Amino acid sequence: MTNPYDEAHAQSINNPDEFWAAAAEDCHWYKKWDKVLDDSNKPFYRWFTGGQINSCYNALDFHIENGRGDQDALIYDSPVTDTIKKYTFSELRDEVAKVAGVLASQGVTKGDRVLIYMPMIAEAVMAMLACARIGAVHSVVFGGFAAAELATRINDAKPKVIMSASCGIEVAKVIAYKPLLDEAINLSDHKPEKCLIFQRPMAQASMIDGRDLDWVDEVAKATPADCVPVAATDPLYILYTSGTTGQPKGVVRDNGGHVVALKWTMKNIYNIQAGDVYWAASDVGWVVGHSYIVYAPLFNGSTTIVFEGKPVGTPDAGVFWRVISDHKVKAMFTAPTAFRAIKREDPKAELIKQYDLSNFEALFLAGERTDPDTLHWAEDSLGVPVIDHWWQTETGWAICANCIGIHQFEVKEGSPTKAAPGWNVQVVDADCKQVAAGDIGALVVKLPLPPGTLPTLWQNDKRYLESYLDEFPGYYKTADAGFIDDEGYVFVMSRTDDIINVAGHRLSTGAMEEVLADHPDVAECAVLGVDDKLKGQIPVGFMVLNAGVERNNDDIIKEVIQMVRERIGPVAAFKTATVVKRLPKTRSGKILRGTIQKIADNKEYKVPATIDDPTILGEMEEALEGIGYAGARKD
Ligand code: COA
Ligand code: AMP
Repeated sequence: MTNPYDEAHAQSINNPDEFWAAAAEDCHWYKKWDKVLDDSNKPFYRWFTGGQINSCYNALDFHIENGRGDQDALIYDSPVTDTIKKYTFSELRDEVAKVAGVLASQGVTKGDRVLIYMPMIAEAVMAMLACARIGAVHSVVFGGFAAAELATRINDAKPKVIMSASCGIEVAKVIAYKPLLDEAINLSDHKPEKCLIFQRPMAQASMIDGRDLDWVDEVAKATPADCVPVAATDPLYILYTSGTTGQPKGVVRDNGGHVVALKWTMKNIYNIQAGDVYWAASDVGWVVGHSYIVYAPLFNGSTTIVFEGKPVGTPDAGVFWRVISDHKVKAMFTAPTAFRAIKREDPKAELIKQYDLSNFEALFLAGERTDPDTLHWAEDSLGVPVIDHWWQTETGWAICANCIGIHQFEVKEGSPTKAAPGWNVQVVDADCKQVAAGDIGALVVKLPLPPGTLPTLWQNDKRYLESYLDEFPGYYKTADAGFIDDEGYVFVMSRTDDIINVAGHRLSTGAMEEVLADHPDVAECAVLGVDDKLKGQIPVGFMVLNAGVERNNDDIIKEVIQMVRERIGPVAAFKTATVVKRLPKTRSGKILRGTIQKIADNKEYKVPATIDDPTILGEMEEALEGIGYAGARKD
C-alpha cells in the first residue's frame, strides 16, 4: 500500500533533482542554481552549484520582507538567571546586523573563520548569524570542552576573530570561560587577531589590551552590515566532532543545500509551520543546536527558544513543562537522557499537571537510541507522539524519522522509524553486500547524500574519504550497526567504532585513551563506554601500570581523572577508572574491548576463541566488581 511518505521517499531517491529543486523554490536566492545535484567530481557531490544565497537572509530578512517582522523569532529563557527575553524577527535582524558590522570592522570578510565559544545566551545565536550574514565561516565550540580541546580547534580552523563570553552557568555554578579561552590561545600555534567578549554580570572577564574587545561597546558603535551573497557551495560553518583519535573531525556545512534541506525538514519531519513555536533543548555547541535551535526554525519563520538551563535542578524537574506552557511550544526536541533525568526525579510526572500543555503536539528525541522505558514514560506522561529519530553531526538532519509532516507511522519501540526522504539507507556485510531484512550489519547510505549533509571535512578531503567513503565504495559509512525489518523500519544498535554517547554528547574513547597513556605511570590502557541508567553510557578506564610503580593506585586514578577533565573537559564525565594487572587481548595483541564491555554491562559473553589467556577474564570480572560493576557472568 502506498502512502505520501512512500511517494516522497521514492521521488527523492529516483529523481533527486526534481525533489530538491521544488524544496529550494521555498527559499530566497540571489541567483538560482545551474545544477541541483552536481556529480561531476564523484564521490564528492555538491548541491545547487552556481546558486547564490545568504543563510542569514533566509533566517531573518526574508521573513521581515514577508510580513513577519513583528513575530517573535527568538525567546531567550534562562531559569539560571531568571530571565526571559524575546526578540522579534526585526529586532533580531537589527542586532545581528550590528554584530556583523563589528566583525566587518575588524576585517572579517567572506571565507574568514570566526570561532564562537559561548554559553546558551541569545548572543551566541547572534554571533552565528552575524558570521553567516557576511559570509564568514563560524566554528562553535561547546562550553564543556577544556582549553586543550579548544586549542586544537583554533589551530585547525585558524579563526581571525574569536567570540566568547565571560562565563556560562551550570545550574548554580558560574563557569568562567575567559581564563579557558586565554589558556587555549596560549596553547595554540594560531593566534586570533581579536577576541570579542560579552561580559555577563555574574563574572567579569579580564581583558587583554589590543586583543580583546568589549561586545556591548563595539556593538554600540557598529555600522549594521548587510547580507553578502555567497555561493551555495561555500561553507557556512565547521563543527568539530569526535573522531577515533584525539584530533576531532571538522565537519563542513555548505550554505545552499543546508538552507533548502533544513527548511524542508521543519514542515515535513517536525510538522512545524511558520509562526509555530519550536524548541530544541540542546546547546548551540552541538549539531542539534546548530540545526534546530538556530537555523531550521528561523529558515522556516518559526519561533525558536534558547534555553539556558537543565532538565532538572533549574529549579526542578518541571522546567520543561513550564517552558512548553509559557511559550506555547508546539514541538520539542531533546535527548532521551534529559527525560531519564526528569523521570528519576518525578517518576509519576506529577509536575506536568501544574502546566497547560494544550499547544504541545509532539516530542522528538535523538542523540542516542530511545530506550523503551523512556519512550513509554514520555508517551504516557505527555499524551503526544514521541518520535525517536536518528542522525549525526555529519548528516546535519535526520537520516531516519517518523516524518509526521508527511505521514505518521505507528511507532515501533527501539526504532527511529524509516529512512527520511533523501536517504537511501541499506544494511551491508563486510563485503558491502546487502543483507536480508532483519539481519544485523553496517548501516550505510547510498551516495549521494541529500543536501545539508557534509560535503567534506575542513581542508581534509583525504580524511573525509578514509573516514566515510572508502570502506564501502559508493556508500557513506554511518559507523552505526543495525538492521532494517521487513516493513522498512530501521533499528540502530551500536557504533562500530570507539565513539560513545554520554548524556547525548558524542565522545571518543580513543581520545581519552590518549590522555591516560600520557600519564607517566601508565603502560597500557583501555577506555570503554559502559551502560549507565541516566547518561546512556559513561566512560570507564582500565590501566596497566609500568613495572616497578609503587605509588598508591587511588592517587594515580585521581590524577588521570583530573587529566581527562583538564584536557578534554568536564563534559567527558570521566569519573571511573581502575588498575588491572593486564588487559585481555587476542593472540595478535588486540584488546578485547567488546568482551570487557559485556562483563561491565552484565551481559552474557563467550570466551573469545582468539583470546591469548582466558584466565584474564576472571581478573577483569574482579576489577569490575571492585568499581561497582558486579554480577558479570559467562555462558
Ligand atoms: N559549559 C561548561 N561546563 C559544562 C557545560 C557547558 N556548556 N555543559 C556541561 N558542563 C559540565 C557540567 O557542569 C558537568 O560538570 P561536573 O562534572 O563538574 O558536574 C559535566 O560537564 C557533565 O555535564 P552533563 O553532561 O550536562 O551532565 P550532568 O550530570 O550535569 O547532567 C543531564 C545530566 C542528563 C541532566 C544533562 O546531561 C542533560 O541535560 N543532557 C541533555 C543532553 C542534550 O541536550 N544533548 C544534546 C543532544 S540533543
Ligand atoms: P552526534 O554526531 O553527536 O549527533 O552523534 C551521532 C551518533 O549518535 C550516531 O552515530 C548514533 O550512534 C547516535 N545516535 C544519534 N541518534 C540516535 C538514535 N535516534 N538512535 C540511536 N543512536 C543514535
